[in-house]
Parts: sequence; C-alpha cells; structure tokens
Amino acid sequence: MSHRIYLLPPWLRIWHWTNATLMIVLAVTGASLHFADPGLHLVPFSLAAKIHDIAGVALLVAYGFFVLANIVTGNWWQYVPKPPGVLARCWKQIVFYGWGIFWGAPHPYPPTEEANFNALQAIVYWVIMYVVVPVVILTGVVFLFPDLAPAKIFGLDGLLPVAMLHYLAGAAVILFMLAHIYLGTTGVRPTSLFKMMITGWHEE
Ligand code: HEM
Repeated sequence: MSHRIYLLPPWLRIWHWTNATLMIVLAVTGASLHFADPGLHLVPFSLAAKIHDIAGVALLVAYGFFVLANIVTGNWWQYVPKPPGVLARCWKQIVFYGWGIFWGAPHPYPPTEEANFNALQAIVYWVIMYVVVPVVILTGVVFLFPDLAPAKIFGLDGLLPVAMLHYLAGAAVILFMLAHIYLGTTGVRPTSLFKMMITGWHEE
C-alpha cells in the first residue's frame, strides 16, 4: 500500500513553478540573444531583449520572495546538509543514481517531514539557489544598469567579466535544470515527484 506525507506548502509550489517558467523563458530568449544571427533567430532580437529584461526583473522579485519566505517559515534549514557523514551520504546517493536505481535498489534516504532533501540534494539546491542564481540575477541587474559596472577591468571593458559570469551562471542553471528534470522522474513512479511539486503530497 502506498504511503503519503504532506511535504510542500502552497507558497513553495507557486514559487517553484513561477521560477521554472521564468527560467525557461530566460533560457530561450537568452540563447536567442547570445547566438544572435541576422539570418536565423529563435526570437527576433529586440523582442527577445524586451522579454528577457521583463522576465529577469520578475525573476528578481520571485527570488526575493523565495529568500524571505524561506527565512520566515524556517524552510532554509532544509538546504543545510546535516553532519556527521555528509560526504559519505552524498557518495551513497551518487552510487544509487549511477547504479542501484537501475537494479531496483530502494532510495537510500527517502524524504521525511523533518528532512525533505537527501544530503546531495541539499548541497546542490543550496549552491544553485544561494550562489548560482544570485550571480545570474546580480550580473543581470548590472547589464540592465551598465553604469554600475566599472569602466575598465585589467584594461578590458568593465562589462566583459559581467557578461561572461552571466553567461556561465545562466548555462549552469540550464544544465542543473536538465539533470533536475531527469532526477524528477526517479520517484516511485516517473510522474510521482512532478505530482508532488503540484499537490504537495509525497508518495512512497
Ligand atoms: C521545467 C522545469 C522544472 C521542473 C519540471 C522541475 C521539477 C521539480 C520536481 C519534480 C521537484 C521535486 C523533487 C525534489 O524535491 O527534488 C522540484 C523541486 C525543486 N526544484 Fe525544480 N523543476 C524545474 C525547474 C527548476 C529550476 C529552474 C530551479 C531553480 C533554479 C528549481 C529548483 C527547485 C528546488 C529548489 C526544489 C526543492 C523545493 C523544496 O522542496 O524546497 N527547479 N522541481
């Protein structure tokens, strides 16, 4: 018989799908701007720039909400990997994803109400949400107000490192998203974790 626990409050689910939608819009318009070619474009340049700016500001607002709501509700604690044995638990999780999962091994650390994430998830989500996404947003804000950037860095245009960081951090979010969607299929059924992110109920 399947067992269900209620894990995710509505604010978290609403933030998650808002954030995912904005990230996809930013990825498509961002790729269109980065690989701009007059003969071939995903989205016309000026339209892509306008949508990218609006979605970027919306992402900043959604991110501010995420940080505040995490502080107010105490959900930030989920993102802190709890010692002892963090690295050993991460390794066990990696072995499970790379090997055990293909042979029907049970999940080594199924979520509980107290610990929603396994150690690997906590570290990856922490790095993405508190390092990589802030870099994307801050560099994006500098792009929106280029006067904020120093005129020159090491004799080069001051916007160049900002552009490179923005691109690399954006690419890292896209790579994370692809791995994240694949890992989203590793619940009891391929659809279970996606359903959980909609209803809040985790099935095991
Ligand atoms: C279409 C795109 C996406 C899909 C289908 C998706 C799907 C999912 C699913 C199924 C879960 C629940 C499994 C789990 O707790 O690990 C989840 C959780 C999560 N996702 Fe996504 N996701 C998407 C995009 C993103 C993006 C772009 C980010 C961040 C940049 C993100 C950040 C998170 C976080 C932080 C959680 C954990 C929330 C919590 O329980 O506190 N997701 N996502």
